[in-house]
Amino acid sequence: GIASRLDRPLVLVGLMGVGKTSIGRRLAGALGRDFVDADEEIEKAADRSVSEIFEEHGEAYFRDGERRVIARLLEEGHGVIATGGGAFVDPETRALVLEKGVAVWLDCDLDTLVERTSRRNTRPLLKTGDPREILVNLKEQRGPAYAEAQIHVVTGDGPHDAAVNRILEELA
Ligand code: S3P
Repeated sequence: GIASRLDRPLVLVGLMGVGKTSIGRRLAGALGRDFVDADEEIEKAADRSVSEIFEEHGEAYFRDGERRVIARLLEEGHGVIATGGGAFVDPETRALVLEKGVAVWLDCDLDTLVERTSRRNTRPLLKTGDPREILVNLKEQRGPAYAEAQIHVVTGDGPHDAAVNRILEELA
């Protein structure tokens, strides 16, 4: 039930553009809990943008920092934590999230992901080729990892409030 699940941080996972940050912020508001964004915390800790970290040090280095930051956020016991799309795919990060939090996989159709990620081109992984093709591949590769999340919510291309309500229903 909702009471036991809310003892733990709700951790939003899923592909770039699905709306983890905006849905997470609204979900936290609806639950009267605090919200943190893991990518933002990584940027603060590194004093660099996610793109700069990828450019200067590469993806493996980013994943190490991401794992440490998410471990800290889970320890701190925040209400809702949004993560970057690759975080839950890292086996160690995934194990930590499943142990200390409740993972909520936000999923939606490819067209919506392509549309939303094209609004601001700040994602290093989408700059290396055709964004749609990259997202198709990531969706396929990452699907099995995301499917380990305790909660799975399919969001539409509509307002984020609808997605928040779906999550609240799943938690009930
Ligand atoms: C990534 C997603 C990004 C960010 C980084 C890598 C990924 O976060 O962590 O660019 O591997 O999918 P968002 O999912 O918030 O865009």
